[in-house]
Amino acid sequence: MNSNKDNFSEVLIVGGGVIGLSIARELHRRGARRITVLERGKVGRESSYAAAGMLAPNAETEKADDFTKFCAESLDLYNKFAEELFGETDVNIELDRSGTVYAAFTDHDSAEIRRRYDWQKRAGLAVEFLSAEETRRAEPFVSPDVRESLFFPFDWQVENRKLLHALEKFAELNRIKIVENAEVKSLLTENGKIGGVRTVDADFSADAVVLATGAWTSLIENGGDIALPEIKPVRGQIIGFQTAKRLFERVIYSPRGYLVPRRDGRILIGATVEDAGFDKNITAAGTEFLRAVAMEISPSLASLEIAETWAGLRPLAADGLPVLGAVAAAKNLFIATAHYRNGILLAPLTAKILAERIAENKDSEYLRIFSPNRFKTAAAT
Ligand code: FAD
Ligand code: GLY
Repeated sequence: MNSNKDNFSEVLIVGGGVIGLSIARELHRRGARRITVLERGKVGRESSYAAAGMLAPNAETEKADDFTKFCAESLDLYNKFAEELFGETDVNIELDRSGTVYAAFTDHDSAEIRRRYDWQKRAGLAVEFLSAEETRRAEPFVSPDVRESLFFPFDWQVENRKLLHALEKFAELNRIKIVENAEVKSLLTENGKIGGVRTVDADFSADAVVLATGAWTSLIENGGDIALPEIKPVRGQIIGFQTAKRLFERVIYSPRGYLVPRRDGRILIGATVEDAGFDKNITAAGTEFLRAVAMEISPSLASLEIAETWAGLRPLAADGLPVLGAVAAAKNLFIATAHYRNGILLAPLTAKILAERIAENKDSEYLRIFSPNRFKTAAAT
């Protein structure tokens, strides 16, 4: 095994998606200098690249709980995150604060959105009710069949591929070492601590290791008595249309899917939610389902050809919540994964609390709530 002092890092981050790259940036901003990101493929090309880029703490929530609060606090960081990244890298991540419409097209949908309006209003979430006429005034290309809708002024979007580009550029400019095509196979343990990790080609040693390995986390061989929480891949397919100019101002949901308009005239329609293992293929059934979602929201799209399709794997833990913080059995091993449908939204706050914990030994209530040690399979003390 090739292991030398060049392979030593203060912090070794395994996985170069939005979570791993955001943590690397925050650690650098807090003074860490020997940071390495090991990535099995190319950085920023998995779930984070496949995402639709919605920052939706309200439209996707089903109850007001710690997770909703975590989502809202991460959204609060986004203005500064986007501004600072622009200053640091010259990359505009296209933070769009036009808000999100959640539209009803059937009796059942109307009952559903009225139920949501009632509890979300009572819980103090930012939500407004729009009649059919108000919805069409705001979004003239929405179907004339729309019954009514909810408007979420604080559910935004970002161009997630530009965000990944900005984070990768930050790493390059600040000498954060990125090693691509380096799949970590196992953790190296020494006297109840992690000494580093092993790839096919080399060993890498570090004072601290962060697993930001998304849907693939459970494939890493653990070091003896360190049991990693089980993370499952959940496939999401998206189809995209291209129009010459932007037809929609806002993200538009129905209870069956969503439409995300990009500045360059692209319109993304998502997404399937499928248990298909690690298979990232597009399926005819998925495409057909998404086309139906698109036509229901806006029949004006009927004449357009599908311009692009793709799929990605969301990382899901057994209880559906993120997994964040130190592993009890090895205190210098940290996990930051299982952001499931909200990893783009949750990247700034995840990075902040992980970097504060690793670089400054600062605690956070979220590291307790989302601790990896809450699962029976994790080596809890
Ligand atoms: P990833 O981006 O998958 O990164 C993990 C990285 O780790 C990968 O690059 C992988 O190659 C690498 N890796 C894994 N194992 C190893 C190993 N052993 N060694 C080295 N490297 C390894 N979220 C939102 O907030 N808003 C949205 O609108 C949204 N839409 C979505 C739409 C779809 C279709 C999908 C699929 C997801 C969507 N998500 C959305 C969810 C979001 O994409 C994820 O929660 C987020 O990208 C997770 O980030 P990550 O860095 O953990 O994972
Ligand atoms: N948050 C959108 C999705 O996961 O499809």
